[in-house]
Amino acid sequence: MKLLPLTLLSLASLALFVGAATISFPPTVGLGTSNVQFTSTSNSPATDSGFDAPKVIPNVNSTTYQWYYFDVVSDDSSYSIVATFFSAPSTAFPFTLSPAMTLEVLISVQTPDSDVFYLDGTFATDAQVTTVGDGASGVWEGTGLSFTGSTDMSSYQVVFDAADSLGIEGSISMQSIAPAHYPCFVAESGVNMAVMPSVGWANAVPDSQATVQLEINGQNITFTGSGYHDINWGDIPFTDAVGTWHWGHGRLGPYSLVWFSSTSTDGTPYTSGYVSQNGTLLGTTCTVSDVGVTPTASGSGFDIQIDLGDDGLFQAQFSADHTTLSFGSEFFRWSGSLVGGLSGGEQFTGSAMFDEFDFSV
Ligand SMILES: *[C@@H]1O[C@H](CO)[C@@H](O)[C@H](O)[C@H]1NC(C)=O
Ligand SMILES: *[C@@H]1O[C@H](CO)[C@@H](O)[C@H](O)[C@H]1NC(C)=O
Ligand SMILES: *[C@@H]1O[C@H](CO)[C@@H](O)[C@H](O)[C@H]1NC(C)=O
Repeated sequence: MKLLPLTLLSLASLALFVGAATISFPPTVGLGTSNVQFTSTSNSPATDSGFDAPKVIPNVNSTTYQWYYFDVVSDDSSYSIVATFFSAPSTAFPFTLSPAMTLEVLISVQTPDSDVFYLDGTFATDAQVTTVGDGASGVWEGTGLSFTGSTDMSSYQVVFDAADSLGIEGSISMQSIAPAHYPCFVAESGVNMAVMPSVGWANAVPDSQATVQLEINGQNITFTGSGYHDINWGDIPFTDAVGTWHWGHGRLGPYSLVWFSSTSTDGTPYTSGYVSQNGTLLGTTCTVSDVGVTPTASGSGFDIQIDLGDDGLFQAQFSADHTTLSFGSEFFRWSGSLVGGLSGGEQFTGSAMFDEFDFSV
């Protein structure tokens, strides 16, 4: 008879200990100032400050934005999927569709049949993001699209329950195999989260074993591969901060890589490079000279270099085999093969995703 109150008590203290906070985002652009966070905070005792918590609250305005990004690329790069949950008017991020409605979700799927097998978007009537520990879960109301993260970010799931409206249902499941990081630091409190001035980046899942099971307009699409999740945000319009941007992630044997190389609108370079091996961090650096992402001589891909200091120089070549999304000449998203390894060590073949923004022309 005493068991019940005790159980309730321990459940209550567990909830207190873990802490949960839900932030609701309205569907339209805010009029006031956004609170934009660029220094990391601990997930305890505060309940809304974990690693993957929203960083622009209580809402975006016409010049601020944030998004939750998820992707999976198969080992042979013949399949990929990207789902992005925006809170971003087009006045702040140029490739969303509305200056007034902010809660867009964009989904693209690549299959062996087509690099753009599926591409569709929709707007939510409301969004809730709940942070528990360091993980976040989000519901973009009215779309059938949502994601769920575990408290320690070891697993994420994206759910597509939109057969009638968007012709897509199913899920992405990710089991993380690489520790979370910020541009220059491991996941710890009190560090800078800006990957360049006015642009934040928190990479909860640099790599994962991912399973994708979808039914798209009556056709089953299933694959496994390397899954990734991060968030980006900013306190000024994206195009006021960014001149060029090259970002990607991939898997090579036991290695998980994430690279970032950009210039601000005045041409100043910024980089970030991350390598983990079998789930253990080898390095996360934002020293500009440590990271190189440069077009290959043939122009069909990119050479990626990440200097890990004592652990050596990681070199890889990405081949831009499939264009899965583009906006004019300003944005390209590719999937493709990745070949490389530690300089002088075993060379591996894998796959990667790669985004390019170029507002400089
Ligand atoms: C939006 O929020 C940002 C960040 O706080 C602020 O700098 C900007 O002035 C705000 N914009 C408007 C139109 O209120
Ligand atoms: C898709 O897979 C599910 C589960 O295996 C199955 O029940 C369904 O009939 C399949 N649909 C098609 C169109 O093949
Ligand atoms: C990585 O882990 C696998 C499986 O546990 C093991 O076989 C392999 O030797 C490890 N590789 C390295 C480079 O640590």
